[in-house]
Amino acid sequence: MSLKTYITRLSLIAFLLVNILSLTSINSAYSQAAELPTEEAAISEGQTLFKNNCMQCHAVHEVVVGPALKNVYERREIPWLINFIKNSQKVIASGDEYAVNLYNEYGKAVMPAHDFLEDKQILNILGYIKQQTDNPPVEETATTAGGEGAPAGGGGIPQEYLYLIIAGFVIVLVLILVVLSMIITVLTKFVNNKEDLEEADKEYVNQTFNLNKFVRSNGFLFFIIFLFTIIVVKNVVDGLYTVGVQQGYQPTQPIAFSHELHAGQYEIECQYCHTGVMISKSANIPSANICMNCHSAIKTESKQIAKIYAAIDYDPETGEYGDNTKPIEWIRVHNLPDLAYFNHSQHVNVGQIECQTCHGPIEEMAVVKQWNTLTMGWCINCHRETQVQTKGNDYYNDLVKAHDGGELKVVDIGGLECSKCHY
Ligand code: HEC
Ligand code: HEC
Ligand code: HEC
Ligand code: HEC
Ligand code: HEC
Ligand code: HEC
Repeated sequence: MSLKTYITRLSLIAFLLVNILSLTSINSAYSQAAELPTEEAAISEGQTLFKNNCMQCHAVHEVVVGPALKNVYERREIPWLINFIKNSQKVIASGDEYAVNLYNEYGKAVMPAHDFLEDKQILNILGYIKQQTDNPPVEETATTAGGEGAPAGGGGIPQEYLYLIIAGFVIVLVLILVVLSMIITVLTKFVNNKEDLEEADKEYVNQTFNLNKFVRSNGFLFFIIFLFTIIVVKNVVDGLYTVGVQQGYQPTQPIAFSHELHAGQYEIECQYCHTGVMISKSANIPSANICMNCHSAIKTESKQIAKIYAAIDYDPETGEYGDNTKPIEWIRVHNLPDLAYFNHSQHVNVGQIECQTCHGPIEEMAVVKQWNTLTMGWCINCHRETQVQTKGNDYYNDLVKAHDGGELKVVDIGGLECSKCHY
């Protein structure tokens, strides 16, 4: 194959790719209600309004107290929706058939009036619902794969932009190829037309690109071996440094409990569940009773919640408890070896260190992952660098005096002594 035909075929393939890509993004753009806002600011206002006014009863993809709102802008006209959301009882009282049926279907549950919302705000809520409809949350099984992978709506680069960016790159690539092949054509013609060309030069000009020869060339072989060696060496060295280090460990838990949902979206305090964190060595994993404070009423039909019921032998139909209980077998994520002593209250309560400093952005994790290395070096480094919080802590008064009121780091109170961390 000559270099020229090679290039022509490449451009053809690239051209097809561009077409396929643009088709997919156009398709998804057509299936949407056009009037709803799509700007980020509007969507995020819609999200806040939805959280504050609607979320106790509605979710986008599931029935809660009211219907799932997915696609609702396709079920009804926008003006109808605005009226209904502002005052659903008025629409029902007017005898609107759809509204009356829905009302009966949902056991005559009354949706409160929201006449304090402006039309524009309602459009923003609907815009947010549309955005959520178009970007459904990842399936439970899929969330375990990446952890911080595609979040449920919002954040990150939307899929369509990614397509556009890729398409842009491909187009640029094609243009470069076309220009290059044009240059080659012109040059070849020009050189061939020169009469005083020697046979060897002629051969050189009209040579074809030989992939076979290229792959077998010494240079190529050397390059591959070099690359391979580097990768192997890097892996071995990394491996040696991380023997016994579980950073990034992210086991799949028996119940798809999500911190992103509970601690992030619903802003439940960490201490509400991890009851020991301020007062004892261990933070504690909550018992099923704590879950039941909410889940005796919330999401009672969910398969995941059914696992909580099974663990405490609770019958959601009758509300009765049996005695066939068995603990939920949460898989431990963070685990220091027995030889080391770590105390939560000392760090969180006395040291006033945020959970996130050590555990990372837990409130964004659908599945908990070990964020830090938890090696001795990690503990020691922090003790060397971190100030002790002495203000308002009488225990430290004398020590602060002894240090002339100067700064007091953990190392100064004995934070590097072996016996403090080792039994
Ligand atoms: C206290 C619970 C509650 C709250 C809060 C609530 N809704 Fe509803 N919503 C319902 C119920 C129940 C229905 C079903 C109709 C009925 O029973 O009146 C419903 C129906 C709807 C429908 C019609 C759905 C369909 O399938 O056609 C829309 C749209 C809707 N709600 C939007 C909202 C929006 C937007 C908010 C927040 C501004 C909101 N709702 C707040 C309970 C609620
Ligand atoms: C609604 C209850 C609840 C809330 C609120 C909550 N957690 Fe958890 N947390 C759990 C449960 C249940 C587990 C065990 C299952 C798991 O690992 O996902 C857990 C596990 C963890 C783990 C891993 C424990 C291990 O096995 O090593 C850490 C770290 C953690 N939570 C930190 C936090 C932080 C930080 C917050 C606040 C931002 C928080 N949690 C809020 C219930 C909760
Ligand atoms: C303070 C209230 C509260 C507590 C306590 C609580 N949850 Fe939740 N949980 C919620 C809310 C609200 C939702 C979201 C419901 C929705 O999406 O409509 C939820 C959703 C869930 C879901 C997702 C269910 C599904 O099918 O989508 C799981 C699983 C879950 N919780 C497990 C737990 C576990 C396990 C505990 C105890 C460690 C717990 N929750 C404690 C309020 C709570
Ligand atoms: C100074 C670092 C640090 C801070 C701050 C911290 N943790 Fe931990 N956490 C750890 C270490 C280290 C472990 C492993 C402990 C072990 O294996 O003995 C751990 C373990 C846990 C566990 C597993 C159960 C347990 O008690 O061993 C939970 C849950 C947890 N942390 C929650 C929290 C919460 C919630 C906060 C904030 C209120 C917090 N942590 C703050 C370092 C920290
Ligand atoms: C983010 C910083 C940070 C990390 C990481 C950290 N610590 Fe600490 N640690 C502190 C601070 C701050 C104090 C001082 C608390 C106080 O005022 O008593 C402290 C105090 C201690 C003390 C008491 C020291 C004394 O002399 O009273 C022990 C023991 C301890 N840490 C163990 C550990 C272990 C074990 C680890 C690692 C698994 C660890 N720490 C990781 C910040 C950290
Ligand atoms: C701030 C807390 C802290 C202090 C101070 C500390 N260690 Fe450690 N050490 C740890 C932790 C945590 C581990 C476990 C690290 C891991 O699992 O990778 C550890 C691990 C070790 C290990 C490795 C054990 C093994 O199985 O690999 C040895 C040995 C050790 N420490 C000795 C010491 C000596 C000696 C001192 C005093 C000079 C000391 N440590 C001071 C926290 C501390």
